[in-house]
Amino acid sequence: MNITDKFSRKLRDVRISVTDRCNFRCAYCMPKEVFDSNYKFFKKKEILSFEEIIRLTKILASLGVRKVRLTGGEPLLRNNIHALIENIKNIDGITDISMTTNGVLLTEKKALTLKNSGLDRITISLDSLSIERFGSISGSKYAPKDVLSGVDNAKKAGFKNIKINMVVKKDVNDHDILPMLDHFYGSGCIVRFIEFMDVGNVNFWNKEQVTSLDNIIHIISNKYEVRPMKKNYNSEVAKRWSYSGGEFGIISSISNPFCGDCSRIRLTAEGKLFTCLFADKSYDIKSLVRSPRSDSEIQKYLIEMWSQRDDRYSEERVTNRNYKVIKKAEMSYIGG
Ligand code: GTP
Ligand code: 5AD
Ligand code: SF4
Ligand code: SF4
Repeated sequence: MNITDKFSRKLRDVRISVTDRCNFRCAYCMPKEVFDSNYKFFKKKEILSFEEIIRLTKILASLGVRKVRLTGGEPLLRNNIHALIENIKNIDGITDISMTTNGVLLTEKKALTLKNSGLDRITISLDSLSIERFGSISGSKYAPKDVLSGVDNAKKAGFKNIKINMVVKKDVNDHDILPMLDHFYGSGCIVRFIEFMDVGNVNFWNKEQVTSLDNIIHIISNKYEVRPMKKNYNSEVAKRWSYSGGEFGIISSISNPFCGDCSRIRLTAEGKLFTCLFADKSYDIKSLVRSPRSDSEIQKYLIEMWSQRDDRYSEERVTNRNYKVIKKAEMSYIGG
């Protein structure tokens, strides 16, 4: 079944956050001052079990979802994540399962287990190759080499076209754009530069801190000839470019919003559904899943929810029409 929202957008992808915990404290996502030892993360019984996630994914697949991305927090902190992947892989209709991770827990063994469980693609976040900047941005005890060895392990396990996500903040790591491309030159990895977004309420986002797509292209063009490439699929968030070292991407949600094709739904670890990364309201699907409701009753609820969807937050931010500063969900909670 295909369902559409108020702007005729289909439901095609689900991003599933499997934990709200992370071993990093990136300043733009989980600033240390907020996510400290007093912070109340969810308890085990509060988060969805694998069985509950699998049941919901099956119902979503019956409504047209084809792609699943596992996120967090840090998804590799969730025990036995490979068992979840194996089960999702076997769901009728699901054609692509991927994961976004910070990479430091990606040992040779773990990468191989993920590959063997059926994970199709992997994206690894890395914001700088400088030890100092990496340390201060990630708020962790790790170094870039720990992430790079995760990338190597993923390659060894057979993952292809590994994506490397770099969130760019002006005057923080914009001078790392070229070193990053140089590092991954000819490696087959696809570096993606992400405009710093106003997700959540605690990262003190401000437009002045955004290095826009135009600025990024300007910086890269000083060294490389770049050419735009065609989209892989309609709702792809990254704009693709080629350069002599391969491919890179830019995710320009601030300067070029892409709500028009947005087919994504988000499921949090705690079992709330969000129809937009920036939504202020969510749907408590956990209480339905933990009630005696049947699959078809849950399916009906989801059809109704999607039919009411009119989110286009990033576009409204630009046009300023209807744009309001709302209390948003944090990135580590909603999963990016
Ligand atoms: P593929 O295209 O399937 O490889 O995945 P992806 O690029 O959508 O996933 P990834 O987790 O790597 O996300 C890249 C960046 O895009 C992250 O910063 C996400 O938060 C952001 N992003 C993903 N989906 C959306 C969206 O619907 N809206 C906005 N504004 N940002 C998004
Ligand atoms: N702006 C842009 N990207 C962000 N991410 C986390 N917080 C932000 C933000 N405020 C990125 C992570 C990860 C992906 C899921 O989202 O670095 O690569
Ligand atoms: Fe963790 Fe990713 Fe958030 Fe950084 S951006 S704190 S690695 S979830
Ligand atoms: Fe989709 Fe909301 Fe992102 Fe727009 S801002 S692309 S509607 S998630």
